[in-house]
Amino acid sequence: MKISFAPTNSGSPRLVGRVVEQDRLPTDLPVAMAEGARASRFSGKAGQVFEGFMEEGGNVVRLALVGGGKPGGEERLANLERAGAALTAKFLTSGEKTLGLDAGHSGLDADEVAAVISGMRLRAWRWDTYRTKLKEEHKRSLAEVVVMGAPDGAEVAWREREAVAEGVEFARELVAEPANIIYPESFVERCEKRFAGLGVELVALDEAQMRELGMGALLGVSQGSMRDARLLVLKWMGGAAAARPTVFVGKGVTFDSGGISLKPGAGMEDMKWDMGGAGAVAGAMLALAGRKAKANVIGVCGLVENMPDGNAQRPGDVVTTMSGQTVEVINTDAEGRLVLCDALTYVQREFTPEVVVDLATLTGAMMIALGHEHGGVFANDDALGEQLLAAGRLSGDKLWRFPLSPAYDKLIDSPIADMRNVGPRWAGSITAAQYLQRFIEDGVKWAHCDIAGMVWAAKPGATWDKGATGYGVRLIDTFVRENCEG
Ligand code: BES
Ligand code: ZN
Ligand code: ZN
Repeated sequence: MKISFAPTNSGSPRLVGRVVEQDRLPTDLPVAMAEGARASRFSGKAGQVFEGFMEEGGNVVRLALVGGGKPGGEERLANLERAGAALTAKFLTSGEKTLGLDAGHSGLDADEVAAVISGMRLRAWRWDTYRTKLKEEHKRSLAEVVVMGAPDGAEVAWREREAVAEGVEFARELVAEPANIIYPESFVERCEKRFAGLGVELVALDEAQMRELGMGALLGVSQGSMRDARLLVLKWMGGAAAARPTVFVGKGVTFDSGGISLKPGAGMEDMKWDMGGAGAVAGAMLALAGRKAKANVIGVCGLVENMPDGNAQRPGDVVTTMSGQTVEVINTDAEGRLVLCDALTYVQREFTPEVVVDLATLTGAMMIALGHEHGGVFANDDALGEQLLAAGRLSGDKLWRFPLSPAYDKLIDSPIADMRNVGPRWAGSITAAQYLQRFIEDGVKWAHCDIAGMVWAAKPGATWDKGATGYGVRLIDTFVRENCEG
């Protein structure tokens, strides 16, 4: 979608959107519009839309009021994104090509206007690449937004947010692509193309290099697949030369069949998005590079395909991880933690980070616990846990904290190896986190975000259509902005 800026009185498109505060209908509205809004119980709650047609100087104007929620508060910008998103959701296939955003009459500051635009852009994203027979009325018509009368600085604020929107869209693209298109090698290639010229250093380890490093757990998962695994490293060093990096690690299982512990057939197609953690990390790196973040951030994606095959690993196999610890693989479907544990050891040895945060579609149990409203976060450091929760509230990529403790940890002891890769049935998300914690070295601040319920949406949401949400990109971007930059 094209975004441009124009002064207030430069002639406006027919369709105009205007943001209004909750419970405070503006006094300068045409009578019919104000009356219509009241009669329709329009209160200006974030994302609520009321639309009317009116005549202005001989021209017909289609005016859409959208609620921006209450002013102030930590969720203000997320609410305004919602408002922008509600506008594009309403008019995306309406036949209208251009929407004017009446920023001048919306009473918003530069950052707030940028948030509205960001919501508009994010909600307009769709992945129609493989739809060759889309009916005319289902095709997107809205192609342009003209921002009218925006305050000084809005355009600059939007350029920053535009970089973040591009990151979100890139993550969505990676997630939406099917597993015959995106597999470890092609994930890397897509990144090589997308990151070219942006100042991000990109390195991809192949299986031979990972074997050399002793990544027996990650390679064990990959063993049953025809596709070669990759460990992708994306480095953005925009901070002080001496500052230790913040590292994000993403689970990138490009398809999770379960392996020999095969998943049931129904719904298995969902497991193309079992690389949503890696998608979020790649998208966030694109956002950080795009807005030239003043921080040293490294994104690492553990990319494998989990398939059953004559050479696949078996339940009961014992693998040796890069850390030297051994794991009894009780269930080959608990593969994400096997991939992450070697990636975590690698980043700690290679980059001596101050903070490591991993993101993973790790357990179905997390979806049972939190549904699609929050990701779950586990942290070995309370301050880090709080910072992530706050980044979640600010960005709209919400998180909820879960516990870690020795009592849960002992549930994954094994009689034959140092640990097993699954615990008993209960507390499945927590035992998965305990497993990961066994690979965190002393003094490293670490958090694990289980985002299984957040990567894919069956229904349209605040700033996304149904399908890939891009969850995690803004979480990471906001975390970096709030805690790692200047
Ligand atoms: N990728 C799945 C988790 C998942 C399930 C994500 C549904 C999104 C939607 C993960 O690899 C997995 O299969 N986990 C198992 C763990 C179990 C075997 C301990 C699960 O959650 O059932
Ligand atoms: Zn699995
Ligand atoms: Zn998985």
